[in-house]
This record gives sequence, structure tokens and C-alpha cells, in this order.
Amino acid sequence: MKTLKVSLDKKNSASYEIRIGADILDRVSLLIAKNFKAGRHVVVTDENVNALYGDTFRDALTQAGLNIKLIEIPAGESSKNIATVMEVVGKLLAAGADRETVLVALGGGVVGDLTGFIASVFMRSVRYIQIPTTLVGQVDSAIGGKTAVDLPQGKNLLGSFYQPKAVFADVRFLDTLPEKEFNNGLAEIIKYGAIEDDGLFKSLEDGIEALKNKDGKLLLKTVEACCRIKKNIVEMDEHEQGLRRILNFGHTIGHALEAVSGYSLSHGEGVALGMVAAGRISVRMRYLSAQAAGRIEQLAERACLPTRLDPAVDLTAVIDRLKMDKKKKDAVVRFVLLKKIGMPFVTGSVGDKMILEVLEGMSQ
Ligand code: GLY
Repeated sequence: MKTLKVSLDKKNSASYEIRIGADILDRVSLLIAKNFKAGRHVVVTDENVNALYGDTFRDALTQAGLNIKLIEIPAGESSKNIATVMEVVGKLLAAGADRETVLVALGGGVVGDLTGFIASVFMRSVRYIQIPTTLVGQVDSAIGGKTAVDLPQGKNLLGSFYQPKAVFADVRFLDTLPEKEFNNGLAEIIKYGAIEDDGLFKSLEDGIEALKNKDGKLLLKTVEACCRIKKNIVEMDEHEQGLRRILNFGHTIGHALEAVSGYSLSHGEGVALGMVAAGRISVRMRYLSAQAAGRIEQLAERACLPTRLDPAVDLTAVIDRLKMDKKKKDAVVRFVLLKKIGMPFVTGSVGDKMILEVLEGMSQ
């Protein structure tokens, strides 16, 4: 089991460990019992993860001497809302949860974001632990303390930065992850290579098929490399004042495409298309070589992620969506572009015309 430490500014938040391994649930239970003592530990999970791992995990925690309550929510993004928060909080109160209670998020991004959000406000905050069961969770969303629920007006509009006390990533969970979900994680992994680590990018070019076949050693090595990149970025910019924005490579256009598709495009598919667009914009603005942008497209294709847009996509609606996001957040739409693989920068000056032309070029 590998251990990485996320060292944050002690004045604002505590540091915590990310532990990565295969078949580590028994050890995880013992570590929780030893390091996060509480009268009650409440596991929040969804119906799919509960059916697969709920009993095993509950038994392991109980064996470690913990008093466990498990709360199940329906699977899927439609649960990531304030109604589910109220339901879970009601169950916490009924179970006698108090300020010492530790919440354990066992699941993917929805369970992690929702549980983190509840932990940040329940009784003015309680401790929580992330046990991500998806590839996106293990390499991205479980690390860094972004918590949120969606509002009718948009995704992640109600949330906080609130760090977990520990993250345990057991790659064995990925054995049962549907391929589409696994590919969503691959999009984030390609992103890490593109923004931060040419070596990781090359190793993906060498072994993307082995990774897709869930080669144990490669999976562990890759998840660890991504966690290391993410934790380094979060340590430097916990609250996304600057550097952390590079983690949004491919996400600006990706989010707009997802929204315009009515979320029939998955997050990873949106990010893959967004990375292709950002690469092509970088080339057109003469920052990046066409060859480097081509490497991103080829890798995404080999990962079975989309790199071309359905010609039916309403590109004007995509531009409008980008402008809507601009109104909600800052005065400018910030794009993460590349100078090289592993060398990103953030710019607010990409014109609509350029975006439209690049998206037209991706339509076929
Ligand atoms: N998923 C992007 C971030 O955590 O900042």
C-alpha cells in the first residue's frame, strides 16, 4: 500500500493521507478504527456500491470494533441535490449522530461530493473519509476537498472547500466498474499527463490498452502518479486562486458540451472533447505544435473516448453556454491551453470566433 501525504496550510485545514493499494479494505478498517475514533461511523453509499460492497465493508468495519450505520442513496447525478442532503441529515439525526461522528463516503463522485458537503455543514462540520470506488474518484474528485451539490440552475453551485481526513483508494473496486465509467477516469488521467507530466503521458501512450485491461501494476502506478500530481497542485493552491485552475484543462468546453447534450455526454466524454478543442485552440494560437495536439487526440481515441463532435450538436448553443458560465463566475471564460505536453497556462483571451471554428473543425 502506497501512502502520499497532502500537506496543507495548518492554519486553515489539516493535512491528510491518501493511501493507495489493491485489496486493502481490511487494513483500511483497522486504520479508521485506530486513527479516527468515534462513537459512531456513518457510511454513505449508493445503491449500486451498496449491493456490491456494502456488506463486506460494513463487516470489515464492524470486525475492527466500530459502531456502523449505513445510509444508502439512489445512484446517479440526480441524487446530488439538497433534497438528498436533507434526507441523509434526517437519517443522521435519527441515528443519534453528533459532532464526533465520522462520515465515510463509499462511492464515486456523487457520493463523495455530497457526503463532503454534508460533513462540512452538519453540526457545523464533522470529520469525513473518502473511499472512492470509481477511477474518477480515485484520481480526482476524492482528493482536494471540493464538495458540492447541484441546484436547478446548474451543477455544483452549492458547495465548499472542506478536506477529508483521509482518502483510501483500493483499485480492486475498479474490477466491477462499467467500461464507460472507467473511460471517464481515463479522460482525467490523460488530462494529468497533458498538463503536468510528459512522462506519464508517454507511459499512457505505451500502455493505454494494458491500462484499459486493468493491468494491476500499471493501474496502481497510474493512480498513484495522478494522486501525486493532484495533491501537489492542491497543496499549492487549495482554494483554486490560480494554479489549481490547470486541473480544468478540457473542462471549459467539456462542461458546455455536456450541458448542451442534456448530459447524454458523460463527464469524461465532455472532457475528452474539451481537451481536443483546447489542443486545437493552442495550435491555432501558435503555442502548441500540431504534432503534440495530435498526440492528445490519438491517445483519447485509443482510450475509446470521443474526439469528434456529432454534426447535430448546436455549436451556437455551446458558445451561449460558455457565456452563461462566464456570467455565473468571472468576467472572462478562462481556458487552460498548452505550450507543450506537460506545460499548461491559463488565458482569458480566446475569442468566440476561434472557439466556433475549432468546434466546426471537430464536427463530422
Ligand atoms: N477536479 C478539479 C479540482 O479538484 O480542482
